[in-house]
Amino acid sequence: MGFYVPFFLFLLTCAYLPPCSSDPYDEACLTNLKQSLVDPTNSLKNWTKATFANPCSGFNSYLQGATCNNGRIYKLSLTNLSLRGSISPFLSNCTNLQALDLSSNFLTGPIPPDLQLLLNLAVLNLSSNRLSGEIPPQLAMCAYLNVIDLHDNQLTGTELGISPSSMPVHLKETRTFMATHCRR
Ligand SMILES: *[C@@H]1O[C@H](CO)[C@@H](O)[C@H](O)[C@H]1NC(C)=O
Ligand SMILES: *[C@@H]1O[C@H](CO)[C@@H](O)[C@H](O)[C@H]1NC(C)=O
Ligand SMILES: *[C@@H]1O[C@H](CO)[C@@H](O)[C@H](O)[C@H]1NC(C)=O
Ligand SMILES: *[C@@H]1O[C@H](CO)[C@@H](O)[C@H](O)[C@H]1NC(C)=O
Repeated sequence: MGFYVPFFLFLLTCAYLPPCSSDPYDEACLTNLKQSLVDPTNSLKNWTKATFANPCSGFNSYLQGATCNNGRIYKLSLTNLSLRGSISPFLSNCTNLQALDLSSNFLTGPIPPDLQLLLNLAVLNLSSNRLSGEIPPQLAMCAYLNVIDLHDNQLTGTELGISPSSMPVHLKETRTFMATHCRR
């Protein structure tokens, strides 16, 4: 009996929420990202626990700002939504993420170094927020990225320990990182 009840519940869940293919990494990523954000205008009203378990419908997502590919979160674009709060390090669990755009919000705190674990990330736009702290060296060196835009924040990059000539990001002022296209 103890065996059949969970199995029955599983069948029930899959029958009523097709397709039954949640990704635990994306679920952790989305759950923690939502928790780290403050959303005063309720722009993320579809970002609920139920959708995190099953966010994709083909290339579309039930989540505002998300795009899917093969049932995984592929792009996240949450720009100009008056979002506050911070960037969750658990974004690194969205391992298929190719583009992340959180620009033009009021996000504070550091850029989590964990983002460098996103090996598929080609585009990162965190411009026009209130992010502070050091730019994670791996990101600044464009190890994987094609495009990085961190301008209009309070980030520092002088502690990177790499010479300006080898630094593909252009440090315009001490406290402002300019938009950059990584050379690759
Ligand atoms: C929000 O979710 C509902 C049902 O889950 C869906 O019908 C609707 O299209 C979603 N809205 C957006 C903007 O994706
Ligand atoms: C940002 O959002 C505000 C309010 O929704 C809107 O008035 C403004 O045009 C938007 N700016 C851009 C650049 O989309
Ligand atoms: C999810 O992200 C956190 C923060 O980067 C990390 O500690 C954890 O190992 C990740 N989990 C998985 C399953 O990748
Ligand atoms: C980053 O986003 C802003 C709008 O929020 C846009 O103006 C800018 O062009 C983007 N940067 C790049 C490199 O695409």
